[in-house]
Amino acid sequence: MHREFVFTEQDFQRIRTLIHQHAGIALADSKQELVYSRLARRLRATWLKSFGEYLALLQRGGETEWEAFTNSLTTNLTSFFREAHHFALLAEHLRKLDKSGPIQLWCSACSTGEEAYSMAITVAETFGGFKQPVSIIASDLDSSVIATARAGRYKAEAVARLSLERIERFFTPADAGYFMVRPELQRMIEFKRFNLLDAAYPIRAKLDAIFCRNVMIYFDKETQLAILKKFAPLLKPNGLLFAGHSEHFYQAAAYFRLRGQTVYALANRLETIER
Ligand SMILES: C[S@@+](CC[C@H](N)C(=O)[O-])C[C@H]1O[C@@H](n2cnc3c(N)ncnc32)[C@H](O)[C@@H]1O
Repeated sequence: MHREFVFTEQDFQRIRTLIHQHAGIALADSKQELVYSRLARRLRATWLKSFGEYLALLQRGGETEWEAFTNSLTTNLTSFFREAHHFALLAEHLRKLDKSGPIQLWCSACSTGEEAYSMAITVAETFGGFKQPVSIIASDLDSSVIATARAGRYKAEAVARLSLERIERFFTPADAGYFMVRPELQRMIEFKRFNLLDAAYPIRAKLDAIFCRNVMIYFDKETQLAILKKFAPLLKPNGLLFAGHSEHFYQAAAYFRLRGQTVYALANRLETIER
């Protein structure tokens, strides 16, 4: 096969090791072409001729190229109210919570923001307004998706999947073909860039719910377990963990037990209830 850039098996193995160490992403053998096409753009941007040269550049350091490397290899597919049953469950959970203290939610792999805004819309609909003691932290490792999320500007096609009522209440038309989320909704969310592999997360308050959906699927079981171990102490005793449709955390039974369709509760909390 003729390729624009030299890309050897050894280059692929090196990239695989680096992205695993840096982001936890475990790339299968079948992902060689995907890696080539995602990173070819970085080689063009840096005027290099081979993946070997690119890897040497990466090794020499420089935060900027590391960021671009990571951003190129993450998969950011998302949408508003994806896996909609979770938002109905979140609303039900919110209604039951003690409203005397602040309610804290974390969207832990928020991509371009649709998931975090769907959480904020759910909060506003459940409590009938924006001025609730609810705050949402939304984070992702990829700096470019965080920038999009913060901007809150979405293509009309993405927004059009929502009901007319939601569009009118939570969005305003922007430049041709785009909508902006309302500032009241934006103010409910604090977007931060950080890595789920970090030893500790910059989250101080105890959480009522963590959304961690469609990201664990890219990690091996060991990495998933290490993350779940860090999630458990962050949750309030009755807090919930929402996972993606194909993610199951049986290996973390000591920390989390299944409570509904891909929704988990703290294992020790369930023991207390069951007793
Ligand atoms: C497929 S998207 C899922 C988005 C959203 N949670 C959803 O379900 O629609 C996966 C996201 O996980 C992020 N991600 C991958 N590795 C990560 C890591 N180590 N720490 C934080 N975020 C990570 C990616 O940048 C990407 O935006």
